[in-house]
Amino acid sequence: MEILDFKMAHDENVYPPSEDSYLIIDSINPTSCFRSLEIGVGSGVISLHLSKEIPFTFGCDINPHSLYLSKKNALANSINNLHLFASDIFSSIKNGFLFDLIVFNPPYLPIELHPRELIDLSYHGGLDGGEYIRTFLCNLGFYLSNNGKAYLLQSSLYPLKNTTNFLKNKNFHYKIKNKLKLDFEILYVLEISFSKNIKV
Ligand SMILES: C[S@@+](CC[C@H](N)C(=O)[O-])C[C@H]1O[C@@H](n2cnc3c(N)ncnc32)[C@H](O)[C@@H]1O
Repeated sequence: MEILDFKMAHDENVYPPSEDSYLIIDSINPTSCFRSLEIGVGSGVISLHLSKEIPFTFGCDINPHSLYLSKKNALANSINNLHLFASDIFSSIKNGFLFDLIVFNPPYLPIELHPRELIDLSYHGGLDGGEYIRTFLCNLGFYLSNNGKAYLLQSSLYPLKNTTNFLKNKNFHYKIKNKLKLDFEILYVLEISFSKNIKV
């Protein structure tokens, strides 16, 4: 998607629009999508882009400050087709409610300590950095439509093979859509769909 210049407010309790957010936006192809979901909206920057292209856009977060800021940013940009709600990954979504596009830029840093502030939830990916990626992937098949696509950001701090082996075993097809080399890690955006469009 083209990167747009939205009016964005900030909040110190919320993950700000960053390199990884823009890497995902640049990777997304929203063609023929009717209903999308972003997990972990943060400031809302990805969801605002989705709502310019897709009629029904949904976004959730576990951090209430993120939901408030995303709503504020949607209103400041006259966006009224973004529906925001609280959820722990997919926990608030009825099983079988399907989306054509699902996006997740997860917390992915390997950190031993438990999160102390709500903002920490943006970074803490559990002991090995893969805790939220695994929960997302284990449940993705229940929410992605037959021809749908999911976009997942992953860092080289968590082995990419863990994710690609999981996807192969679960009969998902994937492509590395984008890559960005930073000082201490490489960021990847994976585009995931059902193999041969057969849902298992
Ligand atoms: C790396 S930030 C990404 C924010 C935004 N999507 C972006 O790209 O700028 C991760 C987001 O996921 C949210 N998050 C963390 N754990 C979550 C969970 N279990 N369920 C839903 N959202 C979660 C955080 O609060 C944070 O807003």
